Amino acid sequence: MILSIESSCDDSSIAITNIETKELIYHKKISQELEHSAYGGVVPELAARLHAEALPKILEECKEYFQDLKAIAVTNAPGLSVTLTEGVTMAKALSLSLNIPLIAVNHLKGHIYSLFIEKKEQFPCTILLVSGGHTQIIEANNLNDMRVIGSTMDDSFGESFDKVSKMMGLGYPGGPIVQEKAKTGDNEAYDFPIPLRQSPKIEFSYSGLKNAVRIAILKEEENQNLNEQTISNICASFQKTASDHILMKLKKYFKVNPPITFAIVGGASANTELRSRCEKLCETYDCPVLLAELKYCSDNAAMIGRVAVEQYKNSDFISINKIDVKSRIKESTF
Ligand code: KG4
Ligand code: ZN
Repeated sequence: MILSIESSCDDSSIAITNIETKELIYHKKISQELEHSAYGGVVPELAARLHAEALPKILEECKEYFQDLKAIAVTNAPGLSVTLTEGVTMAKALSLSLNIPLIAVNHLKGHIYSLFIEKKEQFPCTILLVSGGHTQIIEANNLNDMRVIGSTMDDSFGESFDKVSKMMGLGYPGGPIVQEKAKTGDNEAYDFPIPLRQSPKIEFSYSGLKNAVRIAILKEEENQNLNEQTISNICASFQKTASDHILMKLKKYFKVNPPITFAIVGGASANTELRSRCEKLCETYDCPVLLAELKYCSDNAAMIGRVAVEQYKNSDFISINKIDVKSRIKESTF
């Protein structure tokens, strides 16, 4: 079995995965959403302190499995340096004290393998990764052959939901809150500009849309009109435009590179509008859409353990002196 640790942002999570069967034996996650909600976003130092409390608590529950462990896996990049360090420090200590190898796992590969928890991988696959830190289209052939086709130039899809929510004081994380408010809103009430509409490139940007939403909110505040209904209308119009942007780029990309299998991963893949619109687009290509179970969309150690099983089979270990945390990784390949 492999024990895996995830602490790249505001979720403390540990999992235990059977190497042979890929079965998830144990999985626990302690989220910090409540603690960060008052600030409208993740406060890195607070997150690190909460990991330092939560991870040992979870580890205590795993002691019965220690004798069966063959490796320790941990997310080391990308993420918040101070929070990654909490997980990596624990992983190093465990590797050293149990005298078993250490596996460094890329968080983005983790999100991709959230599709395959307790399942066989399905490649090649065109992947839309939408999280709090990333918006990317990736062509994946296998674990070690993944190519980033397009990324965001500024904010990510999920992050833009967090910021829109913060602007209206709705709380954190913004994704589920804005999605819920949007249900009772008119998505045509505001005509927000679709980002990079004219650009032929496959790339994303959310800063302009975020600014347009900010101006709309200010206007409604000035007119003392920022009530429940206008908030819902802003959320619905924003959500539609945020998805329009992705759908436009996907259509452009698919025209030249029709997908064989398509997948949406990452915390923001929980967005139902984005999911259903992507599914509709893929129907026209007769292309199946893979989605992770909702509980594995946001950050978790089960997905890290699933990648680690493959790395274990490839003897892809790292020495405890060599592992370091990286807040960013090279964007073009990983
Ligand atoms: O993957 P994740 O848990 O953390 C990162 O690796 O960043 O993703 C969290 C992000 C947050 O920005 C959150 O607001 C967003 O995913 N999110 C959503 C939804 N649920 C979560 N964004 C849009 N719609 C949702 N339903
Ligand atoms: Zn993530």
